Amino acid sequence: MKILSLSIKNFRNYKQQKADFHPEVNVIVGYNAQGKSNLLEAINYLSFFSSFRNARDMDMVRWGQSYFFIEGLIKKTVGEYHLSLGYNVDNKKVLKINGNQQKKVSDLLGVFNSVVFSPEDLNIVKTGPAARRKYLDKEMIQLFPSYYYTLLEYQKILTQRNNLLKEIRENKNKKEMLEIWNRQLINKGSRIIKKRLDVLQKLAPLARLSHRKITNGEEDLDINYESLALNQEKNLKNCSLEDIEAIFSLQLEKHFQMEIYRGITLIGPHRDDLKLAINGVDVRKYGSQGQQRTTALSLKIAELELVKSETGEYPVLLLDDVMSELDESRRNHLLLFIGNKVQTFITTTDLTFKQKGKIFFISQGEIKETESFPK
Ligand SMILES: Nc1ncnc2c1ncn2[C@@H]1O[C@H](COP(=O)(O)OP(=O)(O)OP(=O)(O)O)[C@@H](O)[C@H]1O
Ligand SMILES: [Mg+2]
Repeated sequence: MKILSLSIKNFRNYKQQKADFHPEVNVIVGYNAQGKSNLLEAINYLSFFSSFRNARDMDMVRWGQSYFFIEGLIKKTVGEYHLSLGYNVDNKKVLKINGNQQKKVSDLLGVFNSVVFSPEDLNIVKTGPAARRKYLDKEMIQLFPSYYYTLLEYQKILTQRNNLLKEIRENKNKKEMLEIWNRQLINKGSRIIKKRLDVLQKLAPLARLSHRKITNGEEDLDINYESLALNQEKNLKNCSLEDIEAIFSLQLEKHFQMEIYRGITLIGPHRDDLKLAINGVDVRKYGSQGQQRTTALSLKIAELELVKSETGEYPVLLLDDVMSELDESRRNHLLLFIGNKVQTFITTTDLTFKQKGKIFFISQGEIKETESFPK
């Protein structure tokens, strides 16, 4: 999959710009604070219709303006797609494929797949469970658009149930209502867990393979789903949806008193985690810096491979500032992996590494193509 061109208007510090990209490598070079990451954010917006930097839509509108517009020409093995998105600060989004307006975000999710890799991705390995859940969920959203709605619905149920738990704690005697919310929580929550387990069964071996390659066969990376909703004694891989619902329900009963006491839902996919182990040792807690970096890189490469195996095409890879962060051996491994099969965008403040492709110089929200590196 490739993005052939991009037009942006009033997006971040860009007034109005258009760029035609190289099908393989695009180096985005410029001084700090000129708009390099903003450009990757605009490209990635066409995949998720939200910011990879967690910005609100209204914050991405160029200051003093009331809307932004992003349009990309996407080329897949079969066919080309014009994807466009207009956002107005009164919170209206207009989404179009080939000029035809689409009602829901999910109609456009999965049309254009892109994966961002930035230094913050080290947090997937180093920080708390939220970063790991987000890693998995984002990958799943672009592969299975309906998953996005299941997550949204689950979030709503969770908020309502938490409010109810607090009310019960304050003796408002609404215990009988909890049953209704329990059923909904178990229903959506189990679907989320089941889907995550299924995806992990494909993702984990891909990450393991990549990790073995980078470490010359010295390290085995294991990824396992850790779930409070599921009594960990069960063999999760063979769990059916019904099994998950049953264990989830039991666990809720078990934690009933504690949930009332705390006033929050303690059991469910919103509390789950991915266990990452190298040669049996928990890399989240005990991994060296280098092992954590290699793990993050392997997780990203697995993400690309999974998109490829599910859709038949590699997603577009957006590397924000990672080249300077990776040491030479990991950088070479990444470049070798990318080869000429993944269209890649690389932001950098200096041009120390040589690549074929196009170079774009970004200065104060202006994109200028400069001379290409010799082949
Ligand atoms: N909504 C907005 N309207 C106008 N300008 C904005 C908006 N949001 C961010 N900016 C500006 O965009 C500038 C460039 O941001 P960006 O993150 O793309 O820089 P960068 O080139 O990636 O820099 P670095 O090399 O430091 O990562 C920032 O200085 C910021 O002030
Ligand atoms: Mg940047």
